[in-house]
Parts: sequence; C-alpha cells; structure tokens
Amino acid sequence: MAPLELTLGDLTEQPVDAIVNAANSSLLGGGGVDGAIHRKGGPEILAECRALRAGHYGKGLRTGQAVATTAGRLPARWVVHTVGPVWSAAEDRSSLLVDCHRNSLAVAASLGARTIAFPAISTGVYQWPLEDAARIAVSTVRDADTSAFEFVRFVLFDQRAYDAFAAVL
Ligand code: APR
Repeated sequence: MAPLELTLGDLTEQPVDAIVNAANSSLLGGGGVDGAIHRKGGPEILAECRALRAGHYGKGLRTGQAVATTAGRLPARWVVHTVGPVWSAAEDRSSLLVDCHRNSLAVAASLGARTIAFPAISTGVYQWPLEDAARIAVSTVRDADTSAFEFVRFVLFDQRAYDAFAAVL
C-alpha cells in the first residue's frame, strides 16, 4: 500500500515517472490539463496519440480506459491518458471514474513506473462535483494494489480542489 500524497500545483511540472491525463476519447488533445500536457509536452505526445488512433485505438479511447505515451518534454517519463466520465445527475457513472483510476494505476505499473501523479479527473470540463470525485478517487486508490509504487500523488490545481481531497484523505 503506497502512501497517498496531495500537492497543490501544476501536474505538468511533476517530476514523477507517470502523470495521468484527463483526456477525451479522441486522444487528440483538448483544454484543461489535457491542453497543458500537450502544450508543454510538445508534439511527440500527440504523435504517439495519433499512432494509437491509427492502430489499436482506431475508434478512440473508451471512458474509463487508459493508455500510455511518452511525456515528451515534461519532467515525467510517461503520460497515462484516461477518459473520465462526464457528470450526469440522471445516471450514476461512478464505476467509470473508478475504472479511470484503477486502469491508470495498472498501465503505469505495467510500464515499471514507481511514482504516479493524478489530476482531479472529470472535475473540470466534465463537471463532476469535486467532493464526490475526491471520494471516489481516494477510495479507489486506497483499495487498489499500489505495492508497485513508492507513492501515489494527487496534484490539485486550486485550493478548492485541494481542500476537497484533503477532506477525504
Ligand atoms: N495541473 C493539474 N490540474 C489541472 C491542470 C494542471 N495543469 N489544469 C487543469 N487542472 C484541473 C482542473 O482544475 C480540474 O480540477 O484538472 C481537473 C480536471 O479538469 P479538466 O482538465 O477540464 O478535465 P475533465 O474535467 O476530466 O474534462 C476532460 O476536458 O480538457 C478537456 O480534452 C479534455 O475533453 C476532455 C475534457
């Protein structure tokens, strides 16, 4: 059971083996943390995403799935791209947010990553309430086999997100 850490900051600056990108199914970039990763990581990341789309992921990445690419110019070694569920008041999509964290941990561990950093997946453009996302993220990581890692870190971009995660840690 690796220790769980919280940090207030920019995921793209994390000197860890793997950072997790809150991507979309196209894998071809977007705004938020996805945009920051591609902007700062450089074109190699998109090139590898395009190769994934030309190959096994021809139809894109399904919600909850995870796949890795280089991290390009970022301090991290890999980017694990995952697609979070869009919040819905009508439908409980929690299991898909659980899948994002479980599958990202598994992909990172399969690469040999020893350290990993997550953003608050789905809590931006995808509108998932922070408190609920924090509860699901922390409980999923706690329940997972994280023995492959020295630590699992959540990197929160603002104080409100940080406080939401701190409240459930
Ligand atoms: N470092 C850490 N966290 C960040 C950063 C950053 N540089 N930039 C944004 N965030 C935070 C947001 O504040 C939010 O708490 O990441 C969390 C997730 O927000 P989004 O990036 O909007 O991701 P999400 O809600 O999962 O929506 C994904 O948005 O950017 C597009 O292409 C992406 O279509 C996809 C959708």
